[in-house]
Amino acid sequence: MKKRIVILASGNGSLAQAIIDSSHSINADVVAVISDNPSAYVLERAKKSNIPTQIIEMKADRKAWDTDLIALLRMIKADLVVSAGFMRILSPECVNEFQIINSHPALLPQYPGAHAVRDALKDGATATGTTIHWVDAGVDTGEVIAQESVEISPTDTEKSLHERIKIVERRLYVETLKKLLPTLESADA
Ligand code: GAR
Repeated sequence: MKKRIVILASGNGSLAQAIIDSSHSINADVVAVISDNPSAYVLERAKKSNIPTQIIEMKADRKAWDTDLIALLRMIKADLVVSAGFMRILSPECVNEFQIINSHPALLPQYPGAHAVRDALKDGATATGTTIHWVDAGVDTGEVIAQESVEISPTDTEKSLHERIKIVERRLYVETLKKLLPTLESADA
């Protein structure tokens, strides 16, 4: 049976696009794309694929934003929440209620946080990579599902390195979903 997934994304959405494009081969329906950013290009990508979009802009009252997101996810009732370039920390209530995975552009536990690619370069690392992991209440601390490394060249800029990491991320995210989705219970089972 097809699994229902919802994607969370804040920006360009190239990871989201790779998942949308592979939805047939991973036997999944992308039932919604949620963004905190009304001008995120990922929303255009979703519309082109006739996927419903929802925008939950951050509020001054952070708790109210958490509550709105949880209410929306309850309504959507997906089997898995797929964070793909979503640049917000999810509340403990949210991560406890839903099964959520994330892709991070570094080999966790190295370089957690919002500037993983910059941090690897600043550190003088010769390799970094990408990690698909379960989301828990910490910042990029959840159990690792899959990882793959990417070499850093001496001429790399943050942009060039991030683009190379994202090529690997897109493939690894799709491969991981293909293996993981059949093992999950359906949310309405
Ligand atoms: C990806 O590299 C993803 O791992 C990263 O944002 C990029 C999104 O690219 N996410 C994080 O850093 C989350 N902490 P995209 O907008 O092209 O899909």
